[in-house]
Amino acid sequence: MRELSLHLLDLAQNSLAAGATRLRIEVRLDTATDRLSLTLEDDGRGIPARMLEKVTDPFVTSRKTRRVGLGLALLKAAAQRAEGDLTIVSHEGQGTRVTATFRAGHLDRAPLGDLAGTIVSLLACNPHLELELVATWDGGTFNFSTAAWRETQGGGSGLDTAVFAVLHRHLATGLAPLRAAEEAAMGPSRRDGAHA
Ligand SMILES: Nc1ncnc2c1ncn2[C@@H]1O[C@H](COP(=O)(O)OP(=O)(O)OP(=O)(O)O)[C@@H](O)[C@H]1O
Ligand SMILES: [Mg+2]
Repeated sequence: MRELSLHLLDLAQNSLAAGATRLRIEVRLDTATDRLSLTLEDDGRGIPARMLEKVTDPFVTSRKTRRVGLGLALLKAAAQRAEGDLTIVSHEGQGTRVTATFRAGHLDRAPLGDLAGTIVSLLACNPHLELELVATWDGGTFNFSTAAWRETQGGGSGLDTAVFAVLHRHLATGLAPLRAAEEAAMGPSRRDGAHA
């Protein structure tokens, strides 16, 4: 089963292709209501209104290298398989917000996967990207921003490669309780790998 972190990487690629310089990622888990949501907001060029209504159709793309765009269609399918949906709000010249929702405990809900690793990869490939992460789960929250992180690293506009290992540890530690709550929400059979 495909991990949601990989879908997130796809969304971020869309944002970067649209010229975004800022990304805001939000992950929310609420086990009481059994909902999980993943949101990515960017400041890219936005999606033209005429394209927006059909953008989750696998044949809609502004790609020049091939005629099929699959990222959003695949994420929509993943959400709908788990009693969720995909919503896109976009304003040309301002940015785009994509939200995927899921029933957290649904047997077909894809696992979050390596969120920390995904974010580090994104920043390693795009060292000047401004990224903000807000993760919330039952009673817990973890916030990260490249702006605040750079300050702790002594300023500078980009992120030095030497700090990526430290950054990964910081994110993985901060997100560990979310991971645990997310795995618990998937139920014992899934944790045991019975349906992996
Ligand atoms: N954040 C975004 N900002 C602006 N346009 C977007 C954004 N996300 C998607 N789009 C537009 O929607 C189209 C479809 O996106 P989708 O991710 O489904 O396919 P793709 O990126 O074209 O191809 P693939 O994801 O398979 O590499 C894109 O080609 C782009 O024109
Ligand atoms: Mg894409």
